[in-house]
Amino acid sequence: MQLGINVDHIATLRQARGTTYPDPVEGALLALSGGADFITVHLREDRRHIQEFDVESLLVKLPVKLNLELAITPLMVDYACRVKPAECCLVPEKREELTTEGGLDVVGHPGAVTEAIRRLQQAGIRVSLFIDPDPLQIAAAHSTGAEIIELHTGHYAELAKEEGGPEFAEATSEERQRLFAAALQAQSLGMVVNAGHGLHTGNLEPLLDMPGLNELNIGHSVISRAVFVGLPAAVAELRALLDLAQRAE
Ligand code: PXP
Repeated sequence: MQLGINVDHIATLRQARGTTYPDPVEGALLALSGGADFITVHLREDRRHIQEFDVESLLVKLPVKLNLELAITPLMVDYACRVKPAECCLVPEKREELTTEGGLDVVGHPGAVTEAIRRLQQAGIRVSLFIDPDPLQIAAAHSTGAEIIELHTGHYAELAKEEGGPEFAEATSEERQRLFAAALQAQSLGMVVNAGHGLHTGNLEPLLDMPGLNELNIGHSVISRAVFVGLPAAVAELRALLDLAQRAE
């Protein structure tokens, strides 16, 4: 299982003061030293954190894969086709949201998704779709030609945030089952399964035996933790959990 670290929020800190630091590229290299396998960034339409120069610098300096998250707009797809990251994850985007809320509606926009995938794949880029663990979305994702899905774990993370007790345990377990069923469905259709959003050392463990889980993408929690312990140590905490789960298999 591969660990992708999302360094967007290093850029959030930089943009908050209009400085040149902290540098997400330096952060990405530190994340790799802590045990990350690859790096993810989201070039948002409002450029609230990552900028084009970050993407281009990461592409030059990273010795590993860059996964670029982007909205399905002609300008974003043009940009990705020009700079050619190894992988792109297509995500829904609303300007007013704090973070990516909900997965891509592939059922509602099959034509636009298929066209974006076709263009990116033609440029030699692997494409994943960030979707909710919903059987209809997964079937639709498959029919667009996507080889990879990233399951949105945000709802699971929200539930896991609630106070303990039987209701909480049941709701979390139901959402976990929904994620696992979605992973099985995607696997049976021949798609690679990744997951991410809202994950941290406290809620990650129950998801680590998800069928066929290939990659995890983690951002906000690990950058937050890094404020106290440093980025390599914060990434190493996640890495240790993943390694433990893999040894138990
Ligand atoms: N995966 C996708 C597709 C995302 O958009 C994000 C947030 O940028 C993440 C994973 C990581 O989420 P978080 O920052 O909550 O760990």
